[in-house]
Amino acid sequence: MNARIEPAVALQAPAYVKNKALIAWVADVAALTKPDQVVWCDGSAEEYERMCQQLVASGTFRKLNPVKRPNSYLAWSDPSDVARVEDRTFICADTREEAGPTNNWMAPQDMRALLQHGQADGTPALFDGCMRGRTMYVVPFSMGPLGSHISHIGIELSDSPYVVVNMKIMTRMGRAVYDVLGSDGAFVPCVHSVGAPLQAGQADVAWPCNKTKYIVHYPKTREIWSYGSGYGGNALLGKKCFALRIASNMGRAAAQEGDGAPGWLAEHMLILGVTNPQGRKYHVAAAFPSACGKTNFSMMVPPAAFEGWKVTTIGDDIAWIKPNADGRLVAINPEAGYFGVAPGTSMHTNPNCMASLTRDVIFTNVALTDDGDVWWEGMEDDEGGKLPEHLIDWQGKDWTPQIALDTGTGGKRRPAAHPNARFTVAAINNPALDPAWDDPAGVPIDAFIFGGRRSTTVPLVTEARSWVEGVYMAATMGSETTAAAAGQQGVVRRDPFAMLPFMGYNMSDYFQHWLQMGEKLAASGATLPRIYTTNWFRKGADGKFVWPGYGENMRVLTWMIDRLEDRKTGVDHVFGVSPAYEEFNWNGLAFTPEQFAMVTSIDPAAWTAELKLHAELFQQLAHHLPAQLQETRSRIESRLAA
Ligand code: GTP
Ligand code: SPV
Ligand code: MN
Repeated sequence: MNARIEPAVALQAPAYVKNKALIAWVADVAALTKPDQVVWCDGSAEEYERMCQQLVASGTFRKLNPVKRPNSYLAWSDPSDVARVEDRTFICADTREEAGPTNNWMAPQDMRALLQHGQADGTPALFDGCMRGRTMYVVPFSMGPLGSHISHIGIELSDSPYVVVNMKIMTRMGRAVYDVLGSDGAFVPCVHSVGAPLQAGQADVAWPCNKTKYIVHYPKTREIWSYGSGYGGNALLGKKCFALRIASNMGRAAAQEGDGAPGWLAEHMLILGVTNPQGRKYHVAAAFPSACGKTNFSMMVPPAAFEGWKVTTIGDDIAWIKPNADGRLVAINPEAGYFGVAPGTSMHTNPNCMASLTRDVIFTNVALTDDGDVWWEGMEDDEGGKLPEHLIDWQGKDWTPQIALDTGTGGKRRPAAHPNARFTVAAINNPALDPAWDDPAGVPIDAFIFGGRRSTTVPLVTEARSWVEGVYMAATMGSETTAAAAGQQGVVRRDPFAMLPFMGYNMSDYFQHWLQMGEKLAASGATLPRIYTTNWFRKGADGKFVWPGYGENMRVLTWMIDRLEDRKTGVDHVFGVSPAYEEFNWNGLAFTPEQFAMVTSIDPAAWTAELKLHAELFQQLAHHLPAQLQETRSRIESRLAA
C-alpha cells in the first residue's frame, strides 16, 4: 500500500558521526516513525538559510520586509497550538510518588505502549508511522557552552523544520556537538513529532499539529517524547523538557551519589549582572513564573537616577546552578537564545529587547503590518498611543482598531497578536549581553529572587531572614496564571519556585534538595546567596498596576544590593524584611509614601487567608514534605496571630 522509499535508504549517518548508540537509536526511531527521509543537520548558516527558504515555500514562514527587519520571518501557528499544554505533560517515573502530586503520571510501560509499542487491544502506537510523508531531522545540540563540565548534550529528532531553525537559535546546535559526543558520549534522546503524517499526494498545511498531544519525560532513562504540538516548550525540547524537567532529575541524582556532594539545581530563572558606579559587580538569579517578567528584568535599563549603574544579561529563562570548588553557587545559562513574549515589549518597557529584535528574528503569532513588518499590543506606546490603521492579525484576518472593537469581548479590542506570541532571537543580538554569558565557569550568585504575579496581598519586596525562610517563601509562592500555558488565565495558583509546570520529580523532594544544598554549603563555610521575594503586579482600586515596573525595578534591585552591603536596615515583619519608604532612591520617580504603602502593606486578614493556602499546598505535598517548612509555617502563623 505504501509505495514510498523505506527510510533505511537515507539513514546513512555522516562520517563525522561516530557514536554507535546514537546511530542505532536514530535508526530505531526512523523504523518506528517511518519518515520519507532522514536529514542529519550540521547547524551551518547555509543550512539555516536553506531551511528558512523551504519554510517560506511551504507557507509556514513569511519573509518580513528585508529593509525594516532584515533576515527575519513570521510564522502563524494553528489557533489550537499556541502555548504549553500542562495537562498533557507527563513525568513517567517508575512510581507515581516519584513524579509527585503536582505532575501528571503514567506508568512507563503503559506510556511506552501508547507512544511506541502499541497497546494490548491492538491500538497502534501514536509514533508508529507518525512521520510518514515528512523528513525526520537529526538535531545535535549542547545545553551550555560546548565541552563545559556543566553542559549536557541532547539530540532532537523532529519532523518539524520550524523546530529545527528555532533550535538553531535557542541552543548551541551543529556538527561540533558530535566532536564532544565522540564515540561513546552520553546524550539526552529527544523525539518530537507534530503528529501529522501525510498520505502520498496529500498537501501539507502551514502549521501541522494534532489535537492529541503528549509531552512525555522518562526521568530514569532521561528520554523525552513529544507528540502533537509544534509550539514553544512543547516542541523545542532543549528548553523546558530537557533543561528543566530532565535536568532537575540530573541535579538531584548528583546529590544522591553517596559521596556527600550537594548536586546542582536546574531552575526557571533569569541570570543578570549588576555593576555599581564603582565597578563592583553582583549576580542575581530570579525565578518568576511564565510571562511574569524574567526577560524584562534580565535586560533592564536603569533609570537616569542610576547613572553609572549597569545591568547585563546572562540568561532570561533558565539557570543551571552548581557549587564551585569554594562552595560558592555559580550559574550558567544553558540556552543560546531567547524565546520571549512579544506583547508588552516596547521601547518604553524593554529597549534592549527591541534593539535585539531588529534583525535575524523568528516571530511567531504576532501581527503583520501593511509594509511587511511586525506589530503587537504594547507597540502603540512608542507611537504616542496611536494604533496601526490596518494589520493582518495572527490568524490571518484583517484587523483595524474598529474591527478589533467590534469583534472584541468585554469592551476590549481583539488582540492583533496572540497574548503568547513570541520572538526567537540569538543572545548575541542583545546589546546588554554580559561578557561572561558564555563562560563555562558560570557566574557567582549573590542573591535569588522569587517573584509571583499577584494583584493583592504580596508586598513589592521582602528579604528572607534565613535560607530556610527563603525556601519557604519560594515553596509557597502563588501567581496568577498567564497565556504562556493553555487554560484559564488570571487565577491564583501555587507555583513553587516558579517550577510547577517544570518540576521533573516530586516537589517535596525538590524542597528537600534546596534545603540540603543550603545546609551542605553553609557547613562548608560558604556564604549562601540571600533570598528575596518580589511582586511587581499589585493593583489599585482602578485595576491598574500601582508599581511602574520595568526599569523602575532597579530601585528594588539596588535596595537588595544595599542590603547585601549592610547599608540598609529595612523593616522587620512577620515574613521577613521589607524596605522603609526612605530607603529607596526616588530620584526621577514621583511615587508617594501612600502609593508605596499600597504596594508594600501587609493585610493581616489577607495573609491569614494566604497561610491557609500554604497549609492546603503542604497537605497536597505532605508525602516527603520537609518538617522545616511546616515549622516555618507554624512560626509565621503564630506571629501573625500575635
Ligand atoms: P517566559 O518566557 O514565559 O518564561 O516569561 P518571562 O518571565 O520572561 O516574562 P516577560 O519578561 O516576557 O514578561 C511577560 C509580560 O509581563 C510582558 O507582557 C511584560 O510586558 C510584562 N512585564 C514584565 N515586567 C513587568 C513589570 O515590571 N511590570 C509589569 N506591570 N509588567 C511587566
Ligand atoms: C514559559 O512558558 O515559561 C516559556 C515559554 O518560557 S516555553 O518555551 O513555551 O515554555
Ligand atoms: Mn519560561
